[in-house]
Amino acid sequence: MFEGFANVWTPLVEVRRVGRAPLRVMLAGEALVLFRHAEGVSALLDRCPHRGAALSLGQVCADGTIECPFHGWRFDRTGANVQVPLDPGARREHLGAVALPTRILGEMVWVYTAPGAVAPEEPVAPEGLTAPGLARTYVERIWDCHWTRAMENMLDSPHLPFVHRRTIGRLLRRRMTPTSQMEIDWQPTAAGGRVVAALDGRSGGGSLEFFRPNMMALTIPIPRRHFRIHALVTPMDAQTTRLTLVASRDFARSRLLEPLFARSNRRIADEDQRVVESARPREIPPAGQERSVATDAATLQFRKYYFEVLRTSRASGGR
Ligand code: FES
Ligand SMILES: [Fe+2]
Repeated sequence: MFEGFANVWTPLVEVRRVGRAPLRVMLAGEALVLFRHAEGVSALLDRCPHRGAALSLGQVCADGTIECPFHGWRFDRTGANVQVPLDPGARREHLGAVALPTRILGEMVWVYTAPGAVAPEEPVAPEGLTAPGLARTYVERIWDCHWTRAMENMLDSPHLPFVHRRTIGRLLRRRMTPTSQMEIDWQPTAAGGRVVAALDGRSGGGSLEFFRPNMMALTIPIPRRHFRIHALVTPMDAQTTRLTLVASRDFARSRLLEPLFARSNRRIADEDQRVVESARPREIPPAGQERSVATDAATLQFRKYYFEVLRTSRASGGR
């Protein structure tokens, strides 16, 4: 279960999307159901332990339990069975649903991809997703690709003056000459790594940061201001990736300006989509099977992490 994406914390959806009805969300080939209760939000495998019906078709009861649509079994926020209708003698302690560790960080629900486990560590979120006093605009895109191609794209600087020649790559494009050289400096951090790209010895002042397993934070240099664009790259299944772009800022915080940030983020993501979806094989191959150069330093770091840690990961538990 969760092969290739197991035993990691990942941001999933905005908390505000979890309303009164249960919310079904795909993650790495598994359907989850998110539901709200007095203590926050819980995530269960969206599969009733009784006959496999989707719990997300059921309802959230006033006491914060979720009721299966088929025979009315009810589960609490930990997945424990609290009711088996018509069978008061049922041994409910053996009839629970499977919960995933869940946290609310900033404005998002995070889950740990090991059903029924206790997470061995707490999630680490990019500061822009959690720091108080920031306005955030969320944009979601669904891409027809394996998530690893999308993730690498987010860590890739040399594509900017080509794919994004009219947007975030415009300045680079202008400064670039036929003999220009880009240097990629990768500095490991506790959560992943920081990438600074310099063109002909000059850095634009921005930087990219990778947060394992699937996040990128791009710092856009504006003096004394916080302005970051985050890309959260979520595998839905082997063919489909959900991209969540989050622009965080400590200026232009009015709700009225949201469409502006949303539009520019959408445009940047849409520029990437065609190229990323075209890549074959769909899943990134081991480094030796594609040709790489020095400017691929950051994507090669991701590839190393993916093949050494994530790709063979598999969660026990669940059923
Ligand atoms: S399938 Fe859920 S209660 Fe029967
Ligand atoms: Fe891009």
